[in-house]
Amino acid sequence: MDPALPLLPLPSAEVRSWFGEIDIYLFDQIIKGRFDRRRRVLDAGCGDGRNLIYFLRRGFSCFGVDQDRSAVEHVRGLAATLSPELPLQNFQVGDFEHLPWDDHSVDAVICSAALHFAVDEAPFGRMLQSMWRVLAPDGLFFARLASSIGLESRIQRGAAWIFPTDRNVSSSTSRCCCNGPSGWEPRRLTRSRPPTYSIRGA
Ligand SMILES: C[S@@+](CC[C@H](N)C(=O)[O-])C[C@H]1O[C@@H](n2cnc3c(N)ncnc32)[C@H](O)[C@@H]1O
Repeated sequence: MDPALPLLPLPSAEVRSWFGEIDIYLFDQIIKGRFDRRRRVLDAGCGDGRNLIYFLRRGFSCFGVDQDRSAVEHVRGLAATLSPELPLQNFQVGDFEHLPWDDHSVDAVICSAALHFAVDEAPFGRMLQSMWRVLAPDGLFFARLASSIGLESRIQRGAAWIFPTDRNVSSSTSRCCCNGPSGWEPRRLTRSRPPTYSIRGA
């Protein structure tokens, strides 16, 4: 190693100390400025809160919900350490079909690797509408969920899958994206463009 180089922390340790193990596509959205003016952030299906670490550290007004009590306890612990002024009631055990927050009360909803746990179209729709309800005008809805897009021919009979039905919908591949002119691509999603979707059986 060049002895003239200053002693730096390992890049991986430095980035992890700020961002934890954040979802890479959410990281991309932060870099693109989507959170520059969106300071109230709800993580729906927050799990252990890996996607909240940066927002907690940087003083965002964070909220989280998960049906797993131990996960919420963990996130409350994180919040107490990283953002002690936040009320712990911001992190709730519950189903995101019935979010306990007011209409239009957050600027961004993150729903990473959780929506695909909906067992059918009706609960999927209720989850989506519930998250949409709490989102403020010009809010950002970030969803990452498993889908079968590109795998249609390998779907087993009886399965169901979800397709976006218009060009402005966040959705189904593994990131915040839409069906743009050049195929599936990341794009800015705002509350002014409500989500629509359809589910088709195989
Ligand atoms: C695969 S984990 C993802 C956790 C976190 N979003 C992440 O990206 O690390 C899915 C989480 O969604 C939660 N979950 C699934 N369905 C839910 C629902 N209807 N209401 C609340 N939480 C739900 C699970 O308890 C679990 O913690």
